[in-house]
Amino acid sequence: MAVPWYKDAVFYEVPVKAFYDADGDGIGDLKGLAEKLDYLQRLKIDCLWLLPFYPSPMRDSGYDISDFYNVSPSYGTLEDFDRLVRAAHERKIRIISDLVLNHTSDQNAWFESARKPGSSKRDWYVWSDTDQKYKGARVMFNDTEKSNWTWDPAAKAYYWHRFFSHQPDLNYDNPEVRAEMLKVARFWLDRGIDGFRLDAVPFLFEREGTSCENLPETHRFLKELRAMVDREYGDRLLLAEANQLPDDVRPYFGDGDECHMAFHFPLMPRIFMAIKKEERKPIVDVLRDTPPIPDSCQWGLFLRNHDELTLEMMPPDDCEYMLREYAREPRMRVNVGIRRRLAPLMDFNRAQIELLVSLIMSLRGSPVLYYGDEIGMGDNIYIGDRSGVRTPMQWSPDRNAGFSRADPESLYTQPIMNPVCSFQAINVESQERVASSLLHWMKRIIDVRRLHPTFGRGTMEFLDAANPRILAYLREDAERHILVIANLSRYAQPVEVQLGRFRGWTPVEMFGHARFPPIGEGTYSLSLAPFGFLWFRLER
Ligand code: NOJ
Repeated sequence: MAVPWYKDAVFYEVPVKAFYDADGDGIGDLKGLAEKLDYLQRLKIDCLWLLPFYPSPMRDSGYDISDFYNVSPSYGTLEDFDRLVRAAHERKIRIISDLVLNHTSDQNAWFESARKPGSSKRDWYVWSDTDQKYKGARVMFNDTEKSNWTWDPAAKAYYWHRFFSHQPDLNYDNPEVRAEMLKVARFWLDRGIDGFRLDAVPFLFEREGTSCENLPETHRFLKELRAMVDREYGDRLLLAEANQLPDDVRPYFGDGDECHMAFHFPLMPRIFMAIKKEERKPIVDVLRDTPPIPDSCQWGLFLRNHDELTLEMMPPDDCEYMLREYAREPRMRVNVGIRRRLAPLMDFNRAQIELLVSLIMSLRGSPVLYYGDEIGMGDNIYIGDRSGVRTPMQWSPDRNAGFSRADPESLYTQPIMNPVCSFQAINVESQERVASSLLHWMKRIIDVRRLHPTFGRGTMEFLDAANPRILAYLREDAERHILVIANLSRYAQPVEVQLGRFRGWTPVEMFGHARFPPIGEGTYSLSLAPFGFLWFRLER
């Protein structure tokens, strides 16, 4: 069977609002994104993931949708969307978008109708006379919300919401809702979208006496969605956003009949923990606890995204450690997480950034990059919620970072201007000019990964390096054998690994093709620079 495209793909996440403003109103738009496709093609990404671009009051950056069948006027029109998809496909770039199944905006016509007495839409949402039901469900946005119930004076009832109170949850027990959301999916698939990131997918159903997460009913609906996609469209992708423990994420793959991919949420904070503690244990432990997934499925590996670096699934001690090390200032925290970007989290240390990126490029899964991290963009912890990691893309040192021709004060938010990481210093134009830039390094590592499909498809085996600061693993398929060795320490480290079964073989470094001494009897020895990593092709 052909290997599915998403197993080899490099993904790139982009909020339309933040990428490029073609019409000069201070907000990024679909036309702007289309104009920047050449840049993305040069970066050699395979699939764009668009954050919600649908009409929305924008109280949750568009995850509060008021009309599932249109494009927000701030971003353009349905025709602009069609043109973007066509232009991306011409460049062999696929596009997936967020499909927000769980909830709508309270300004969605469905909810506005549901609130009215006697409405035929009443049962599209989850209502109650008391706020005492489903006490087992945690409150996720606990900085803002105290309960998952909010009283609606018009409806004279409480409505259920797992996120903000302006985002009422749809009632998936109602077959009309299930049918409508399949219709929404078809609407975008018909327009050529290559798949969906399924937002907040564990929360579709509610049942008394449970946490109202990962319920069997939710999995049944997802299987129905998958069957529809396979039957009517074929080669498209469902990528689950399920921030759960490894054993609870596993069911989202089903028997290869549910989601094609799921983000590896448990791994992400452990990567940050490992580099801070300078030891491989957090990474090895979580990957050893991760159950195998069906052959056709794939993990989505990421470091940062548009949300906080979530710590929800960490034990309290680890969570405290992460906050202490990475979010000293209270402003750096939101909900149960850290609202900072990759480069500032790494103190703008180039070697650390490269090391972390090399891990998501070489561990088992497909990497998902967050816009701007390829140039090491900073964040702004002085703006609210998670907006500080969603600032305008820094294209050049010009006005508004080259993001928009609007008057600076009319931008949806200011680009980063502080002296450490201002857009004058960190931007695409400058980095394209300098061969040693992070951007050029990113292109190079994406290239190397693309040349070796073993990274996306092969098996993975950890090696027991004697030094706990060293993470070493083999990635293999029938023909190729790749050895990855990473130094998680800020000091140079000795490496000794057992490579017995490759005795007589030669490690060839994969970036510069240098041939290293052949593997002999006993352990293979190397030294690694601070935060250094080496990728070797093992040649017979
Ligand atoms: C998950 C999204 O990633 C986040 O940005 C959003 O706030 C919630 N879902 C609610 O839709």
